[in-house]
Amino acid sequence: MSREEIPQKFGRYQIIELLGRGSMGVVYKAKDPVIGRLVAIKSIPETIGLETGKKQEYIKRLLQEAKAAGRLQHPNIVTIYDVGESEQGPFIAMEYLNGVTLKEVLASGKKLSMPQLVELVRQVGEGLDYAHSQGVIHRDIKPANLMIVENNLVKIMDLGIARLPYSDLTREGRLVGSPSYMSPEQLQGEELDGRSDLFSLGVVIYQCATGKKPFLGQSIQEICWRIIHDQYSIPSKIDPSLSQEFDYVIAKALAKNPDQRFQTAKEMFEAMRRLLSEKEREREAGRKPASQKTAEISSPAQAQSQKYSSGYEESGSYSSSSESEIDDIFRDLTLVHRSLRLSPEKTTRIWEIALVVMAGLILAGILVWFFLFRG
Ligand SMILES: Nc1ncnc2c1ncn2[C@@H]1O[C@H](COP(=O)(O)OP(=O)(O)O)[C@@H](O)[C@H]1O
Ligand SMILES: [Mg+2]
Repeated sequence: MSREEIPQKFGRYQIIELLGRGSMGVVYKAKDPVIGRLVAIKSIPETIGLETGKKQEYIKRLLQEAKAAGRLQHPNIVTIYDVGESEQGPFIAMEYLNGVTLKEVLASGKKLSMPQLVELVRQVGEGLDYAHSQGVIHRDIKPANLMIVENNLVKIMDLGIARLPYSDLTREGRLVGSPSYMSPEQLQGEELDGRSDLFSLGVVIYQCATGKKPFLGQSIQEICWRIIHDQYSIPSKIDPSLSQEFDYVIAKALAKNPDQRFQTAKEMFEAMRRLLSEKEREREAGRKPASQKTAEISSPAQAQSQKYSSGYEESGSYSSSSESEIDDIFRDLTLVHRSLRLSPEKTTRIWEIALVVMAGLILAGILVWFFLFRG
């Protein structure tokens, strides 16, 4: 399939437009004519470049794992509706998300504030702890797979979808995957458990806080070597506004040995939350008497997310300097994107207003002319 060609259909799903191209396939916005809902179709194009035997094996695994992920139901995990094979090859039909990925946020040069990071870890963590409890490991936690949608909700995408083994990261000299977020054990082809995802989440947090990836290199091999053997720059050295306590959280999250890491996402979230309270105490001390105002997590999305959460309820409230910060905590991150997405609608509205105003003016002109002429 050439870059320009967009298929009309995948199975019964009618393709509307291209949403994006990733390391593994192409994602389209589509409509399910039976239910009449929007879906996202992830296709695995023939051009993926694997030899036939490997490709069959890969497709089999992909469908198997998509089915496993399809059983999961959690507000922080994109819902898989269907897997199938079409003329264009195998595909996955999933919940269509209208939002902004963390990759886009980072690409726009933004960093996340500490309250935003804590909220991110809480939501992604709840999704991951749930998936891990169901025996599903994500294996590709990275900014492109985390999307912020409306109501402050963060969704994990591509959960459990088969990944190419390290040896397949390059094909014919072309980079088809990025090792930057992978854990040392993953890069070494070892058996994985949920703690590998938590390492990847640690890399994401590091990048969201500092604006830089912890393990950089000129080549894939160099990046892999650094992840397995090397240390990263301490976050507070990159950005002095970050605390030493945050450095400790990162050190634990990015420990080479899984036994030395946070064992669950909930543990990681609680360490992050403690950090936030301290920061806020410092901030609040300078502003007003320490009233330790506690804002309940109260948005519908958060309430929904709590309903499913695996024991985060007890810790589901945290102190905050202002309730509005909680109510629309990711607002500044999604603002650029929303205004871009809304621009076609806005343009239509401006034209409508302009037409009405022009019609009004013409009418007024005719009336004035009529009365003047009569007068
Ligand atoms: N369920 C979805 N709803 C809306 N957009 C999606 C969805 N899944 C993926 N996308 C978009 O398609 C892009 C490509 O996705 P993908 O093939 O998974 O590659 P990657 O994760 O490497 O970016 C994503 O970056 C995202 O913008
Ligand atoms: Mg993806």
